[in-house]
Amino acid sequence: MGRQAKYKALAGQFITAIEAGEYEFDQPLPSLRQLSALYQVSMTTALACYRYLESLGYITADPKRGFFPCFNPQHASAIEYAQFNAKACTLPNPPPSRARSGFATAQLDPTLIDSQQLRASLARTMRSDHTLFNYGDPLGEQPFRQALSEHLKTQGFVIRAQELVITQGCLDAVKTALELVTKEQDIVAVPSPCYTGLLDILSVMGRQVLEIPSNQDGIDLVQLEHEMARHQVAACLISANFQNPTGHSLSTQQKAALANMASQYRIPIIEDDVYRELCHTGTTPLPIKHFDQDGWVVWCSSISKTLAPGLRLGWCAPGRFHQKYSDLIRIRSLGCNRPLQLALADYISRGHYARYLKKLNNTLASQCNQYIQLLTRLLPDKVRVNRPQGGLVLWLELPDINTKQLQKQLKEERIYILCGDAFSTTTHYHNYIRLNFGQCIHAEIETQLTKLAQTASSLQRQKSVKSESKTGTKLV
Ligand SMILES: Cc1ncc(COP(=O)(O)O)c(C=O)c1O
Repeated sequence: MGRQAKYKALAGQFITAIEAGEYEFDQPLPSLRQLSALYQVSMTTALACYRYLESLGYITADPKRGFFPCFNPQHASAIEYAQFNAKACTLPNPPPSRARSGFATAQLDPTLIDSQQLRASLARTMRSDHTLFNYGDPLGEQPFRQALSEHLKTQGFVIRAQELVITQGCLDAVKTALELVTKEQDIVAVPSPCYTGLLDILSVMGRQVLEIPSNQDGIDLVQLEHEMARHQVAACLISANFQNPTGHSLSTQQKAALANMASQYRIPIIEDDVYRELCHTGTTPLPIKHFDQDGWVVWCSSISKTLAPGLRLGWCAPGRFHQKYSDLIRIRSLGCNRPLQLALADYISRGHYARYLKKLNNTLASQCNQYIQLLTRLLPDKVRVNRPQGGLVLWLELPDINTKQLQKQLKEERIYILCGDAFSTTTHYHNYIRLNFGQCIHAEIETQLTKLAQTASSLQRQKSVKSESKTGTKLV
């Protein structure tokens, strides 16, 4: 067994014990030396095991006292995924407007962005070429596409530069794909719950939506396949990695199965993969596109979550729709901002992007843990939260709490969250909220999280008082 397998296997034993509540919060775990002696592993393996558990949010390191479990099984006992029969429906048009800041928007703290190297690449590019301000290639600058292709290859994902089309962000890439492969009133299958921005696009484009329930393994493939086999859906719109809002990912088997289903039923899958590179555990997962043999997967992504949403740059690998997709982009916009693409090509090809992502993901892993620790300490006991292995958002289940009311009360204090209803056409997510953990924790953020927890607790108390008094009235 290699060292990697050993530390993970050892970590697995701790995960089982911690999840079963066998460790008290204030009970220290064996020291590294004890761990190494007890399990007959090297100190390096022992440390790797604890670091791994730490990155997953199971334990925390106190520099003076050692390692402690920080996982409250009551909070984490697997979040519930609503199970229901999928039904196509029309979305409200225009979509409701929503807060776009604080905990309500999935984005990085500005201090985490590699602005120094980014600015250096921009400055170098601006000095470089006298044709810089001319029209460029409408499908995207060759150096940018080439740099992206090489960057992806280092993750075991092979896409040639000429397969990529550059877009103005991921949503632009998705919208173009939807325009191409669906028409008004067509039904598009999405996982439930689904990112609000995708629901909004479907709404303004007059597409119907079919929400497929999620489960612990990802998405209910049986229901999805049933709908695809009946040709009830014109396309599927799916995120396979660190999905927004649940943060969960599909297994490799599910990704491969989805790619096969797309080709078997000849129904395109539009893959929104904007969070894939925000992987907290070290290995960047593969997209569904990796398993696509016949070009039915239209893969869309961007640098908005990983680096700089303000640059508005993304891309698409449209597979078998490449020609039509390119024609649409060419006619519609004559391409994207040329200097920015060339600056990013410079940034990526010098290795800054890969180095920055490594550092960023370590920071996000510990930031995510900090948020979970704070929230589980502050929020009422019944609240459950998933520990995502990547991405930028937490999905919390707050039983007995009207999250619309919570959102409203917090807004009065200028604290912004999104309640679960925003992510669905169904009524299954009243008791959920989504929180961005991209903001670094400091005093102001702690105060806001404390306020959030206090408001949630007081709403829960009000609810139980109301239901007690209702029962009381009946008894009289
Ligand atoms: C799943 C998903 N796709 C796309 C986007 C937006 O991407 P972009 O800014 O590149 O258009 C978001 C932003 O929250 C998102 O969560």
